[in-house]
Amino acid sequence: MTFDTPITIALSKGRIFNETLPLLAHAGIEAVDDPEASRKLILATNHSAVKLLIIRATDVPTYVQWGAADIGVAGKDVLIEHGGEGLYEPLDLQIARCRLMVAGAKGASLSGNQLRIATKYVNAARTHFAAKGQQVEVIKLYGSMELAPLVGLSDLIVDLVESGNTLKANGLVPLEHIMEISSRLVVNKAAWKMKHATVVQLLDAMRQAVESRARSDG
Ligand code: PRP
Repeated sequence: MTFDTPITIALSKGRIFNETLPLLAHAGIEAVDDPEASRKLILATNHSAVKLLIIRATDVPTYVQWGAADIGVAGKDVLIEHGGEGLYEPLDLQIARCRLMVAGAKGASLSGNQLRIATKYVNAARTHFAAKGQQVEVIKLYGSMELAPLVGLSDLIVDLVESGNTLKANGLVPLEHIMEISSRLVVNKAAWKMKHATVVQLLDAMRQAVESRARSDG
């Protein structure tokens, strides 16, 4: 691909960055710097018109919504909490996969009103319990949710589960599946119009990479 139009792509460090790189490589984009080794927040690529922004995962939709980045990669969990205003979400990259679950002590009750739920995922938790007709009290935390039921802060938690090791290490069990989570490509609505040809070319190349990986995983 050639890039005549400047394109800025917002990514978070770690798993999303590492798993997005091979998909960008399929579109001919390669990072020049390694975000783990450099403290730079704007990374150059092999195309002078394409820049990568390295930001916190929860900030990716905000940068894309306001057009500070044209494109971003964000977890579905983060997008649900953000609300998706100003963004299109055209592609499931099927990376950073995990499950959003209700968890608690073994045998903890899932029914009843006024249960206290500790979570970083306030919107997702409210929507889940409201759909079951349950009124719950949601306590917002920013991490280490597994601690909350252990010290009586909450009855249950809503958290991401991948291997289940964190729950297990804290004597908790998954109790209810809310949804499968994966990372999505998001595009600023104005960039979708103004930079349409470039964005669609990039999107198509990444879609092909996702599909060919899915075929080889079989
Ligand atoms: C996430 C999540 C769980 C853990 C699940 O936390 O919130 O705590 O990973 O993974 P597992 O099922 O493989 O053990 P993360 O490390 O992202 O940090 P956080 O507590 O800040 O959310």
